[in-house]
Amino acid sequence: MPAQRRSFTRLLAFCLASAAFAHAFVVLQQQAPILLEDASRGADTLASKELVDSTVLQSTITKDNLLKRAQDLYEIAKVSVDEWQHPTRVIGSEGHAHTLEYIAQSLESLGDYYNISTQSFPAVVGQVFESRLVLANGVPDSARAMSNTPPTPKKEPVLGKLALVHDTGCAPHDYPSDVAGAIAFIPRGTCSFGDKSALAGLAGAKAAVVYNTEPGNIAGTLGRPSPNHVPTFGISAEDAASFIEQLARGEKIDASAYIDSYVSEIKTQNVLAQTTAGDPDNCVMLGGHSDSVGAGPGINDDGSGSLTLLEVATQLTNYTVNNCVRFAWWSAEEEGLLGSDYYVSVLEEEEKAKIRLFMDYDMLASPNHAYQVYNATNDVNPLGSEELRDLYVDWYTANGHNFTFIPFDGRSDYDAFIKNGIPGGGIATGAEVIKTEEEEEMFGGQAGIAFDPCYHELCDDVSNLNLDAWVVNAKLVAHSVATYARSLNGFPKVNRQALASASPYEPRYHGSKLAM
Ligand SMILES: *[C@@H]1O[C@H](CO)[C@@H](O)[C@H](O)[C@H]1NC(C)=O
Ligand SMILES: *[C@@H]1O[C@H](CO)[C@@H](O)[C@H](O)[C@H]1NC(C)=O
Ligand SMILES: *[C@@H]1O[C@H](CO)[C@@H](O)[C@H](O)[C@H]1NC(C)=O
Ligand SMILES: *[C@@H]1O[C@H](CO)[C@@H](O)[C@H](O)[C@H]1NC(C)=O
Ligand SMILES: [Zn+2]
Repeated sequence: MPAQRRSFTRLLAFCLASAAFAHAFVVLQQQAPILLEDASRGADTLASKELVDSTVLQSTITKDNLLKRAQDLYEIAKVSVDEWQHPTRVIGSEGHAHTLEYIAQSLESLGDYYNISTQSFPAVVGQVFESRLVLANGVPDSARAMSNTPPTPKKEPVLGKLALVHDTGCAPHDYPSDVAGAIAFIPRGTCSFGDKSALAGLAGAKAAVVYNTEPGNIAGTLGRPSPNHVPTFGISAEDAASFIEQLARGEKIDASAYIDSYVSEIKTQNVLAQTTAGDPDNCVMLGGHSDSVGAGPGINDDGSGSLTLLEVATQLTNYTVNNCVRFAWWSAEEEGLLGSDYYVSVLEEEEKAKIRLFMDYDMLASPNHAYQVYNATNDVNPLGSEELRDLYVDWYTANGHNFTFIPFDGRSDYDAFIKNGIPGGGIATGAEVIKTEEEEEMFGGQAGIAFDPCYHELCDDVSNLNLDAWVVNAKLVAHSVATYARSLNGFPKVNRQALASASPYEPRYHGSKLAM
């Protein structure tokens, strides 16, 4: 979002807010002059908002408001059609730029209740248009070009022998001299796909194929581009087995690799809003992601989460808080949790200590939903994660909803927080995983199909939302905000040691893509 535009909106929002305030003042004066004995009364009215209460904040959540926002967001995604031929809010697109503007303008229209800021950081955009891997005259079914892979030169096939790499392919000496001019054949494991591709490139390979060492395909990404990367595919362990044997016997295998893709680094922004009221040393933080994948408009993923935050942020302005509330709209989640990762990476220890917990809201309205709670226990996560988990559990239970625990395995924006000693957790309604019979009994919907059959697809539009599930979850988000904004009594104290001892980490996932 261009800076001058932002300050103009801010100015405009200020004028509108002042006008609205003046108007309210006049109306009040006419109807209840007795309350307005002196000129400072207006300020008192603002200061005398009631303390936020969970039941009251939950009651402000309506299906109509949420649906209206989803419709707005779909219109915003359509702005990308010129460039993308379909609606999307992927980073770098007009649809995403407009999404950021929509979030910022909505917040700015709330006057000075929030301190709003944006944070710029580098991210990678890329797309694979077409790819083909041929090994010994056959095309392995499981072969997929990795995300963020460079194209083959001139977008034409490269030919070479398949060259088996030693050990894990994580060190330069794992690459024998016959890799030069060949297509490197590398096992998955130990280091990232990006590292393997770069080492293959440094050894002179024309392309690289990473084969799985666990059952199944590899939906991988090379992560941040490097000039040393070569065009890189992933294939399944099953497809790789016979080639590994042949190479081990010293047989030669002809290979050809072709990728038409682009990859480049751009700047994108996180949007942050923090209540000006409340103790700024004890903040309740929550986040959703503003971006979608390139394939579609991302109305459930994560329109549902990011719009819930916006709606709760809007409704919260009628109340005061004891603890500060900080909302985040992360960018580039789909490219590998880049926004949240960047945000935490630049926090000083003092700043980390102010974030008492982080709540992740990613996909709250899946059409074939389950109510899923991240199984964030204190054994393996920062102290307090389990208290948050139990807040969700208690609420679903009290409101007569079933829920399931799902793995807290680093697939969304909470990852950087918990890895840095900040308690975290969240809820979701399911992505590509297939609903079981048991879950059908618990939540309705249909067993045997995905929780979100339109996950990362063009059809993730307004019709892809389960509005009833969305309302339920938006109320739970309101409950989580109201509860902790009111009081953190009994919530585990900040663990300085955990904050100080946190070390940089290599995420296993980059969004939905495996990174290693
Ligand atoms: C508003 O937020 C910015 C960025 O986080 C911060 O530098 C600034 O001090 C904040 N201002 C107030 C009044 O809280
Ligand atoms: C705040 O309260 C007023 C008065 O009840 C209401 O009209 C308004 O819709 C509420 N919500 C927001 C976001 O202002
Ligand atoms: C939740 O995590 C704990 C360990 O942290 C584990 O013992 C428990 O089995 C998990 N529950 C489910 C349902 O996955
Ligand atoms: C909860 O799940 C049970 C089956 O485990 C089912 O009988 C019940 O109807 C479900 N409750 C709701 C509110 O869906
Ligand atoms: Zn998501």
